[in-house]
Parts: sequence; structure tokens; C-alpha cells
Amino acid sequence: MDDSSVALLPTSAIPGPKRMSIVGGIWEQVKFDRDPVVYMNGLRAKYGDLTRFQNSMGTMLLAIGPEYNRPLHQETDLFHSRPFVLPGGKNTSQHRLRQSIFSLNEAEHKRMRHQLLPVFQRSMMELHQHSINKHAENALSSWQPGQTRNMHRDMHLLVWNVVRDLLYGLDDSAATESLHEGMEHWMFQTFSPWVRAFPFNIPFTPYNRMIQDANRLERKFLDLMRKRRAQGVHGNDALSALLRFRTIDDKEVPVELLVGHALILFLVAYETTGNTLTWTLFLLSQFPQAQQDVLDELQALGPNPSYDKLDAAPMLARVMKESTRLLPAVPYSRRLASRDGAFGRYEIKKKTRVIFSHYMTHHMAEIYQNPERFDPARWETIKPSPSEFLPFGAGPRTCLGSSLAQCVIKIAISKILPRWKINVVPQSQVDRKMGISLGPLNGIPVTLSRQDRDLHKSPITGNIRDMVEIDHPEPAKRVRIAA
Ligand code: HEM
Repeated sequence: MDDSSVALLPTSAIPGPKRMSIVGGIWEQVKFDRDPVVYMNGLRAKYGDLTRFQNSMGTMLLAIGPEYNRPLHQETDLFHSRPFVLPGGKNTSQHRLRQSIFSLNEAEHKRMRHQLLPVFQRSMMELHQHSINKHAENALSSWQPGQTRNMHRDMHLLVWNVVRDLLYGLDDSAATESLHEGMEHWMFQTFSPWVRAFPFNIPFTPYNRMIQDANRLERKFLDLMRKRRAQGVHGNDALSALLRFRTIDDKEVPVELLVGHALILFLVAYETTGNTLTWTLFLLSQFPQAQQDVLDELQALGPNPSYDKLDAAPMLARVMKESTRLLPAVPYSRRLASRDGAFGRYEIKKKTRVIFSHYMTHHMAEIYQNPERFDPARWETIKPSPSEFLPFGAGPRTCLGSSLAQCVIKIAISKILPRWKINVVPQSQVDRKMGISLGPLNGIPVTLSRQDRDLHKSPITGNIRDMVEIDHPEPAKRVRIAA
């Protein structure tokens, strides 16, 4: 039977909790933002792969798994991408800062993607290798045996330096550092569950603090962009590519319309890559055999391998796949129906919001045997489809920075592991945080020693253990160690 002859079920037939009051919806939003993994797992366990529920934005769908990922990523005329940053009033900094490639669709999206594509081509990685090596060496220059360090902070800083240098052509001056602080403050506010639950601009509220942070941050970015435009934008970095963007009738685009693009691209680049690098090192430190295998491979490549060789190294590739499967830096994303249409066997109405989850898909036992197990060897035999394995998204909106991210991560690992043995401080509490990206809530405290290949995992606590099976010879005590 032809699929189009099957009558679609109304949206109201999608299972889910019963309708609730506005306050109930706000409370659901707080619960979702506090721990999306718990929330999504709860809904899926109760209602299945497609659920209708309410939060402060109104009625939402939660769609889990390849059957729904496929249309959400391929039917880009029906499923539009939306800004993931909270709105502000028209003509406010907050409003301008949330405009980015993520808020463009169809023809406008294609034009912006086309503009940015050359910056991120795989062929650029050979050019970038030297700078990435330099930033990795700098990051390690202050490391000493016996030190306890916050791995998350160190890796975040390493990636920040790569992004500010390669994608934005910025030096490491005090002005750049102040930009970094401004971005961190604003991002913290934007993803706070309390700001998202009460988005009203009343003095002294968290939302009001976010608006003030947005004003300050926009001023800093505009200053930077105006100066760069005045100097001429001939570079092959992302900021120059954005500043060269023209309107359809070939006019210069005012910096005020590009400021959000510049900011969000910067944030996305360093948050996701910094978190993935941190998680990958964390997993390698907790799974000594995988680390031994990576070390063997790196040793066989010799010192300073070309990026082509590093990129072709099979064990490192399997570790990256397994790390981004288990702990994808983008754990979930959203779409908005641009018109009435069909979604699986249901009707979907214009303006319906849909959440889908890379994390939930990657943890489906129907696709991955023992999904919580860190098992790089599984990649020798499996070849999931783009709707089953999508750490960098899929379809026409696939991540633009995936080559750069993998290049930074692989180079950093190749510099760190042969020299340093990284042990998570025993009894550390490793919890997740989901904002713009999935990262560790309070960092990851590690102790450093010279690499001697006598590798042992550490007993740890925290809700990371719901996401990755980490077994220990004896149960770990729940102790929180500030990093
Ligand atoms: C390990 C690091 C990274 C991960 C896991 C990651 C993941 C993703 C995912 C899942 C999407 C699709 C989102 C959706 O469908 O709603 C995406 C899109 C995107 N990513 Fe990444 N990303 C990473 C690094 C980067 C870097 C370094 C950049 C560089 C600036 C970047 C730029 C982008 C852009 C511009 C898009 C939007 C593409 C579009 O809408 O056409 N990402 N990324």
C-alpha cells in the first residue's frame, strides 16, 4: 500500500501527560532544564518514542530515535531550526545576539552556510595543524608531575585559544580575555533554569542580569567587528567570512545584524569541542585498555605525525566515535514545524515545537548493544545510519565545524597522552551539566604523572555513571572534591 493513502492520526492522539496549567508548564520547564536526561528518559519510559507534553513554551513533542530523526533532519522545509537562546524584546541586545545560522532556514540558511563553508573545509586542517600544535604545547607548558588540575578548565582554555586565534584572528590580550569573561557570564545566565522559567525583565531578577550581560557583551563584540571591518576583511577566518557576507542585492550587511552570528559561532565552537575533548580524556583515563591501544597507535605514528596520518589512525577514530556516541556534546536540539504536515503516522500542525535527542538515540538498546558500555571495538562491526549516529547532526544542517573539532581533539590527545598519565582524583563526583552543550558540572579533577603505561581507573561517583557504565572493584564513597 502507498504510504500517502494511510490516514494520519491527529496530534492529539500522540501519548503524553494530561494538559496542565501555565504554572504546571513552567514547573515542567524547570524540571527539563535541571536535568534533560532524567526528564527525557522519564517521558520515553512512560509514553514511548513520541510524546506530547507541555512546558512554559506551550505544547511540545519529544521525538526519540531514527524514525523521527530522519524527517527532522531531511525535511528542512517543514522542520525549521530556531534560535536556542532566550528571546529579548525587539531592538534589544538579547534579540540581536540570538540571531545566528541556527535561526536561519531555507534560502537564507543556504546562503550563510555557503559563506562559511570555505573556512571549515577539511583541506584547511593541514594549514591549521601548526597553530593547533602550538596551542596544545602552550597548554601543557605549565603542567608538573604531582599536580592536581581541573581537566575541564584546561581543555576548555586550550580550545578557546584555538578558536580565538584560528576562527577570529584574536590575540591573547586583556581585551580578548574580557570578551571571554563576558561570553561565559552571558552563557551562564542564558542557560540557567531560573532565567528560562521566569523570562521577565524585572530589576534584580536573573533574567534582568542576563539582559545587562547581553548589553555589555554586544558592545564588546560590536567594537571588535567595527575595528576588523575598518582594517579590511581579507582573512580566511570565520569572523572575516561573516563580515564579508552581503545582502541579496549585494550590499554590505551592518555589523549589528551580524553580531549574533559572530558570537554564537564562537560559543558553539569552543563549548562543544572543549567538552568533547574533556570527555574523551576522561573516558580514556577510566578505560586503561583503550588508552593502551591509543598509545600503541600513537607510538607507531612517531613524533609529530601529519594530520592526515593522525586522522586515519583507526583506534583514535573508534575512540572518538564511542566518546561522541556516549557523551555527545550536543545532547538534544529543537525544530519548529513551519506549516501543517506529517510526522511519522501523525499530523503535525504549523508552529508545533519538537525536541529530538542525539543522546537518547545514541543510548537506544535497539541500535547499540549494551549502550552504556564504553566499547570502541564495537565500531569494527557496526555502521549505523546518519539517523542512528549523529553527534554532529545530519542532513543539510550537519555541523560545519566537525573537521576542525576532530582535528583539535586528535592533536590534543596525541600531545597529551604520550607524555602525561591522567588519573581522575579518586572519589570525585562527576556530574553532567547541559547548557549549550553537555559538559561536566563541576569540572574533572585529575592528578598528573609522567606517562609510564601503568594505567588504572579511579573510583568515582556522580550521575555520569548513569550515562557510562563504570564498574569499580569496590563501591565509591560519595565525596565531592572541588576542582
Ligand atoms: C565536538 C564538537 C562539536 C559537536 C559535537 C558539534 C555538534 C553539532 C550538531 C549536533 C549540530 C547540529 C545541530 C542541529 O541539528 O540542530 C551542529 C551544527 C553546527 N555546528 Fe557543530 N559541533 C561541534 C563543533 C563545532 C565547531 C568547532 C564549530 C565551528 C564554529 C561548529 C559549528 C556548527 C555550526 C555553524 C552548525 C550549524 C549548521 C547549520 O545549521 O547549517 N560546531 N554541531
